[in-house]
Amino acid sequence: MTGEELLARADESALNAYAPYSEYHVGAAVLTRDGRLFAGANVENAAYPLGICAERSAIAKAASEGLRPGDLQAIAITASPCGGCRQWLHEWRFDRVWFRRADGSVAEYTADDLLPDTWDLPER
Ligand code: THU
Repeated sequence: MTGEELLARADESALNAYAPYSEYHVGAAVLTRDGRLFAGANVENAAYPLGICAERSAIAKAASEGLRPGDLQAIAITASPCGGCRQWLHEWRFDRVWFRRADGSVAEYTADDLLPDTWDLPER
């Protein structure tokens, strides 16, 4: 699947965003290594910090179906991922992250490119 195809799925999901406060609708689509798709959108709350970003909503869907870090190959996001989501992208070890920049162009990175020199907890 190409970045454009996965981004088209993220665009569909952005239509389901619940963003009455920011009115900024974001969608994300995750492609698993075995070819499954999980899509998510941002879900806001009147207590603003409790809202969840589109990326985390899509990853949480995959996680709650039993997927684990290393199982997720790529993610496409309709906007540039926030700092907190970059930490999630690192944890889930995405090979490819595509997102749409404000100017409409499509950016392609690895999760590590987006959060260089971060730490990992020692294996337990
Ligand atoms: N948002 C996302 O869903 N993903 C990002 O990485 C950028 C920000 C959402 C959070 C909030 O609901 C709205 O966009 C405005 O910040």
